[in-house]
Amino acid sequence: MKTITIDLGSISYPVYISENILGQLPEFVKNIEVPGRIYVIIDEFIYKKYSSEMEVFFRKNEINPFVLKGKKNNKTFYSAMKIFADLDGGNFARDTTIFAIGGGVIGDLAGFVSSCWYRGSNLVHIPTTLLSAVDSCLGGKTAINFKSTVNAIGSYHHPTAILIDSKLLMELPPREISSGFAEIVKYALLGAPKITECISEENTLSSSLLAWYVEQSLKQKERFVKNDISESANRLFLNFGHTIGHAIEFSTIYNGEETLRHGQGVALGMLAIFRICIELGYLEESDIKWLRSILDRYGLPIYYESMTIGLKPEKLVKSILNLTFKDKKRTNTGLRLILLDGIGNPFIYKTDNQKLIKFGIEEVIK
Ligand SMILES: NC(=O)c1ccc[n+]([C@@H]2O[C@H](COP(=O)([O-])OP(=O)(O)OC[C@H]3O[C@@H](n4cnc5c(N)ncnc54)[C@H](O)[C@@H]3O)[C@@H](O)[C@H]2O)c1
Repeated sequence: MKTITIDLGSISYPVYISENILGQLPEFVKNIEVPGRIYVIIDEFIYKKYSSEMEVFFRKNEINPFVLKGKKNNKTFYSAMKIFADLDGGNFARDTTIFAIGGGVIGDLAGFVSSCWYRGSNLVHIPTTLLSAVDSCLGGKTAINFKSTVNAIGSYHHPTAILIDSKLLMELPPREISSGFAEIVKYALLGAPKITECISEENTLSSSLLAWYVEQSLKQKERFVKNDISESANRLFLNFGHTIGHAIEFSTIYNGEETLRHGQGVALGMLAIFRICIELGYLEESDIKWLRSILDRYGLPIYYESMTIGLKPEKLVKSILNLTFKDKKRTNTGLRLILLDGIGNPFIYKTDNQKLIKFGIEEVIK
């Protein structure tokens, strides 16, 4: 088992990475701070697939888990209200520890509930997607979506521990592994030489290599979040590729179903930003060629076919552009994009230049 300590300046917590976390939860509970009763919010898929491994944990702690689908449209007030009602009905006190077992949807929702319950109960994250293991479990951001606005309502609430099961991550479907890799590539682009070296080599993914990526990624995230928990400076760099990426992800929802996973949107968003950086003279044509080859290696898209959702490219570009400018990170002085002045050197670029952003989006919409 690998134990790392995440030190964010004002707060620190342990991360345990091991091969069979779910089957050993009773032992882990002894090691981490769990003062009161345990309440579990778990992804339906994980519950169905792994409940026999967690049976002893559930039985010993008299847990009747709250099970829900890890879908974007479950990250709502409605779900939160149902959980509050369940907590209230079960007389869960302030010293309750909420275990969030699932991907980013479950983590964000459970984190939000935990931050509100008696103004803050304990929280333990057990991320079960690669994206949540390398990104969303760390940093304390919690959120629910509201009306058409993603992550509109939320808080900062940190876990007391993070438990990561590397064997479970290895069993993820390829699309989920790819989605998580987009964030790993992002860390490389922001300046992580060890990760850059590793993703550039032909490696067969194993449970130990995946555990190494998770560890390296979390250390990178710690670097940007440290002393900037409320996202006023360095932490903003982590949004690299996300402003346009989110707009692509949400503009390509078809009949209420996503056609791109979060990481796939981020991959396209990073390519769009590379095109903008080249246009402004900060990156070279060879850089985007290199990025395309890396994304392709990890099964990530390098463009999106607009006819997938029955739209002409011009129409989809327009809708992505509109959504990009609606992004909440827009300030009164313009859109705050993260650009790179060479690989590994992020900076904030404020702009209202729609033509420039459109040029970037056109790079990835065919
Ligand atoms: N708080 C943060 O800092 C932060 C950062 C990035 C993303 N997010 C949020 O994370 C969410 C996306 O998270 P996600 O990509 O983890 O997706 P997700 O939670 O929606 O899960 C994706 C799918 O994978 C399934 N799944 C979960 N674990 C699995 C497993 N082990 N094997 C097979 N299937 C599994 C789920 O049931 C779901 O269908 C978004 O809501 C986003 O806003 C939050």
